[in-house]
Amino acid sequence: MAFAASQIVRGFSSSAVRNVVIKNVTIIGGGQMGAGIAQVAASTGHSVTLVDTSDDILKKSIKLIEGSLKRVAKKKFSDKPEAGEEFIKKIVQKVSTSTDAESAVQGSDLVVEAIVENLKIKQDLFSRLDKLAPSHTIFASNTSSLSICDIASSTNRQDRFGGLHFFNPVAMMKLVEVIGTPATSQDTLDSLLNFSKVLGKTPVSCKDTSGFIVNRLLVPCMMEAIRLYERGDASKEDIDIGMKLGAGYPMGPFELADYVGLDIVKAVIEAFKTKDPKNPLFDSSDLLNKLVAEGKLGIKTGEGFYKHK
Ligand code: CAA
Repeated sequence: MAFAASQIVRGFSSSAVRNVVIKNVTIIGGGQMGAGIAQVAASTGHSVTLVDTSDDILKKSIKLIEGSLKRVAKKKFSDKPEAGEEFIKKIVQKVSTSTDAESAVQGSDLVVEAIVENLKIKQDLFSRLDKLAPSHTIFASNTSSLSICDIASSTNRQDRFGGLHFFNPVAMMKLVEVIGTPATSQDTLDSLLNFSKVLGKTPVSCKDTSGFIVNRLLVPCMMEAIRLYERGDASKEDIDIGMKLGAGYPMGPFELADYVGLDIVKAVIEAFKTKDPKNPLFDSSDLLNKLVAEGKLGIKTGEGFYKHK
């Protein structure tokens, strides 16, 4: 098993929990990110419980996982489709689903939250889970924009709480940002860094600052692109071509905004603005707000800045 490679000692004292060997992972939130994290954790030998509020959502999450695994299998077993099917089946079997977060966390070494970007909802969730999860269990949030410190403040395990920020599509993107607050213990950080490596990712560390590394640079860039377009200085198509061919980006800012979801981009920039209201890079955009109000959220709704089939 992949995680067996990490020979780390597990300790159980309440505040000085040693590096945790992460075998059982609970992911709360079965959207794109939660499903993606569940997929990579299951693919690297972990037992995964994926939690969301309804069986219908969880069925869609499993479909997302299967869809992504099909793309992986197509390459890996191009001349052996049956082996590809077996590969997908084995990984999907490692993911169980549940609508009961409280029960799910009871056998968990790590809980990764990937739910809606709303501080109060995240705090309420973690506060409930904190009472039921074993003392060694590490809590992590995949938040894109909120403060880990603020989320962790609703628990009594701030030393065992960190940020674990993945990128979409999780199966393809090699980076994980590991975020520590002033209260996060070194053992927790080491466990999260090690877990990221076991997933086959490259972790980078960052303090608990708005947007961490990537979103702090990427989202203001998207907002600047939208402002450039709103002023009529260039078309969105040319801005996208410009950033792909002139800066080597795999997607232009409008393509990426549609890919990530315009509601997410809006939520991220609003969270940055709350923390630093005077920074003009974090100003809102009328066009972005209008598209979100119209339900044009990008690829997931069939239309955003562009129309999608
Ligand atoms: N699952 C599995 N495989 C996938 C996949 C998925 N979801 N998406 C793409 N792939 C694979 C394809 O199978 C294909 O494999 P081969 O080339 O080996 O055949 C490969 O990736 C390339 O895919 P495509 O040809 O469809 O398209 P592409 O070359 O444009 O690559 C991409 C797709 C990897 C998404 C690439 O465009 C890219 O890197 N885009 C930028 C993504 C990015 O910036 N993500 C970060 C967003 S910000 C964020 O997530 C943080 C946040 O908090 C908001």
